[in-house]
Amino acid sequence: MSQEQLRPVRVGLLGIGTVGGGTFTVLKRNQEEIRRRAGRGIEITMVADLNTELAKKVVGDAAQVVADARAVIANPDIDVVVELIGGYGVAKALVLEAIAAGKHVVTANKALLAVHGTEIFAAAREKGVIVAFEAAVAGGIPIIKALREGLTANQVQWVAGIINGTTNFILSEMRDKGLDFDVVLKEAQRLGYAEADPTFDIEGVDAAHKATLLSAIAFGIPVQFDKAHVEGITKLSATDIKYAEQLGYRIKLLGIARRRDDVKTPAGIGGVELRTHPTLVPMKRLIANVEGAMNAVLVQGDAVGTTMYYGKGAGSEPTASAVVADLVDIARLLDAAPAARVPYLAFQPDSMSALPVLPLDQVVTSFYLRLRVADKAGVLAKLTGILADQGISIDAVIQREADEVSEGNQTDLIILTHETTEGGMNQAIAAMQALPTVLAPIVKLRKEELA
Ligand code: NDP
Ligand code: HSE
Repeated sequence: MSQEQLRPVRVGLLGIGTVGGGTFTVLKRNQEEIRRRAGRGIEITMVADLNTELAKKVVGDAAQVVADARAVIANPDIDVVVELIGGYGVAKALVLEAIAAGKHVVTANKALLAVHGTEIFAAAREKGVIVAFEAAVAGGIPIIKALREGLTANQVQWVAGIINGTTNFILSEMRDKGLDFDVVLKEAQRLGYAEADPTFDIEGVDAAHKATLLSAIAFGIPVQFDKAHVEGITKLSATDIKYAEQLGYRIKLLGIARRRDDVKTPAGIGGVELRTHPTLVPMKRLIANVEGAMNAVLVQGDAVGTTMYYGKGAGSEPTASAVVADLVDIARLLDAAPAARVPYLAFQPDSMSALPVLPLDQVVTSFYLRLRVADKAGVLAKLTGILADQGISIDAVIQREADEVSEGNQTDLIILTHETTEGGMNQAIAAMQALPTVLAPIVKLRKEELA
């Protein structure tokens, strides 16, 4: 069939906020270029948004605007439903209803897929429809495509990334401009980077949603957000950011998924670390220099080695770029058999892995510890003795004058360790904390060389 004979793909958009608005604009602006690539036109013919007045201002006469998203799903002329509402509630119901109605679905909703992905992908498989979600991880960076297709020859060993633009923006602005946390968060919200509930960003939940999706695609395991370790940046202190810099490290909120073949698990097949937390990264690494709302993802594959993907991780048009790319994929595959498509999670559904997500105690990293201690003889020897008893090897010990000292001679000790288990480190910390010469709660941060 010639290109002229293919009718345009008709798209129904649910939610025309930051990303929905960008999607409409990009599709309109690059309509002709996109048609030449897709082999057929892609047209948003119907838009649902609670605020119909605002939606009409964005789309003009180009599409029908309705308040009820279900009217879009019920329209037999719509081929693809694009869900850009967000959250686990109404978005889940609408996505499942769209699938049940036989529509292909595009979504940027990482929260929905990280938590309910298994159910959604099963429903989509049953109906033979596509669920595409490039925009759900790292905004405009085509990391899903890279992992699912470009790196498909590899056994992936680990994936680590700055995958939340809001927190990276906050950390950069606080460090470079000395601005307060709350001020920078407000700016991130104004720029359209933050989630509807920004605690998802600052408490690490959004990055953990994305890390969960990456782990599933990298290792062929089901999405298991409930097993992910999640820590954000709200407890991070300026003191530790400063000490880390003095030691040649930068603190970044990283989402990490790492395959571990060395660990004993009941099934005897190793496991996967799945964690999101502030991390010290050597300043000489490229990823340590990713600033503002930019994202970067490192993937280590056995054949390719380390690859890095960098770009805008949030915002209207960067995210729309990924949404539209999914629409082009669907336009090309509209008439193809489901078996000819790339599987949702990169691996064929009957070939998923049973690799378990490891409990945090079994995670292996190196550590940064900061201890406020009495400045007297024998203190350091006791601390290093406790670490040695746990088999923890020390990389460096640095003493710093404490910033504010209320009474007596006190000092800050910073200890960098070599790799050890989280469980072993926690036992050592408990023993050190019990010493009368340790005067404040010990600060523990994880450190990754990412070599
Ligand atoms: P916005 O809040 O800007 O847009 C959501 C839109 O959906 C709003 O216009 C809202 O209307 C509308 N809406 C809410 N409920 C309904 C409903 N029941 N029916 C129809 N419309 C509804 O969010 P974003 O565009 O920022 O985010 C959308 C999705 O994209 C989320 O899943 C988010 O996580 C994801 N994402 C966002 C990125 C970003 O940079 N912003 C980047 C990557 C992914 P109203 O305002 O009137 O409530
Ligand atoms: N709130 C998210 C972020 C949007 O800041 O990265 C992109 O997923």
